[in-house]
Amino acid sequence: MARGPMVVIAEILKGAYVGREVELRGWIYRTRTMGGKAFVVVRDDTGILQAAVSKDGVPAESFEAVERALIESAVVVRGTVVADKRAPGGYEIRAADVKIVHFAEKFPIQEDLSEEFLLDVRHLWIRSQRMTQIFRVRHTAFAAVHEYFRDQGFWEVHPPMITPAGSEGGSTLFEIEYFGRKAYLTQSWQLYAEALALSMSKVYYVGPSFRAEKSRTSRHLTEYWHAEMEQAWAGMEDVLKHAEGVISHACRRVAEERPDDVIALGRTPEFLKAVTPPFERLTYREAMDILTAKGVGIEWGKDLRTFEERALTEGRTKPIIVSHYPRVSQAFYKARDPTDPEVVLAFDVIAGDGVGEIVGGSERETDLATIEASLRAQGEDPKAYAWYLDLRRYGSVQHAGFGMGMERLIQWICKLEHIRDAVPFPRTPARFHP
Ligand code: 4AD
Ligand code: MG
Repeated sequence: MARGPMVVIAEILKGAYVGREVELRGWIYRTRTMGGKAFVVVRDDTGILQAAVSKDGVPAESFEAVERALIESAVVVRGTVVADKRAPGGYEIRAADVKIVHFAEKFPIQEDLSEEFLLDVRHLWIRSQRMTQIFRVRHTAFAAVHEYFRDQGFWEVHPPMITPAGSEGGSTLFEIEYFGRKAYLTQSWQLYAEALALSMSKVYYVGPSFRAEKSRTSRHLTEYWHAEMEQAWAGMEDVLKHAEGVISHACRRVAEERPDDVIALGRTPEFLKAVTPPFERLTYREAMDILTAKGVGIEWGKDLRTFEERALTEGRTKPIIVSHYPRVSQAFYKARDPTDPEVVLAFDVIAGDGVGEIVGGSERETDLATIEASLRAQGEDPKAYAWYLDLRRYGSVQHAGFGMGMERLIQWICKLEHIRDAVPFPRTPARFHP
């Protein structure tokens, strides 16, 4: 085949190549033949485009190959781009030649298959339009998080994934055998972040975290991507602003760069652009009062469950912030509120649409004796945290940080019913295959 410029579908759909001959590589997404014509919808990483192939317009053996090719066959199409209102996306390519690079076997994914089957063939299902739309949004959201923190003067630093102890409680720790000793997969970079903040002051990281969550919910994965930040010389209010800042920046970037994907997924770019700081603020006590008024009162110290988070975010388009959680049942590192000993300087950012908590953060306790007492109260041996406790011995200063679940953020941005679709190969209690 003679070579025109090799282009991707998104460029054609922008109208850049009308009247020109181009070459396109992709896979057959849909195909139908009618008499002497074949309409082959081709997909690539950027979108789908119809190729109109006529028997008279291409070499005879090419037409015969197109008629035989099943969906997901790999193709190279050469032809002229035309604007055509009847074609999906408003453009099509009138083929001068089509080469079938690989004839696919009958694709196992047809219409109306069960959710379980689609998870079994996830390695093929990730080719669907919906999945690729989500992946493109994910790509943009990750870039936006890095961009935000770097612009704000944070250093990107990296914690270990294999750790001797957890930070978020033993019940969700994944234990691994480490040359005859017990080790754990990281739940959060938290303890290392505090060490790094006393080295590099403003630090962030985006990487995997692991939780042995037994609960099967639409918002828990056992392996997820965690965007975390830690800042020295800062308190809860300072890092809260960064939580609002990074969420709104990611929403804006996705709205600007991926409007078509956002619309296809059921959000609008306007909805995302309106996610600007400040977010509505509630203390835990105020949240309790609202919940009581709604007839779903909770007991002091209980975590907010999906149900309560739904009640609090009802009718809100932006996420909300709940802060000043009861000290009972909170992780040992969270700082007491000097004005109210019953609560800690901790906050969550809670999104609507059933997604719930997307960020959890706090100011960190700086008093050595208080941390040791909290660890003992939780049945932990402070000796296991000796290195961490050193941080309160050498140049301890006020510091705070948070962690954001990237899949939760993407679930909310893309309005996904289930968090598993925010990641290509989800890991849940029931499944780690394929
Ligand atoms: O609220 P979490 O447990 O907080 C921490 O891990 C802190 N050490 C973070 C920090 O201050 N550096 O987790 C933080 C966020 C949650 O708000 C949620 O978005 C996400 O991580 N997350 C999960 N996402 C998917 N699946 C799970 N099983 C998750 N568990 C937490
Ligand atoms: Mg939390």
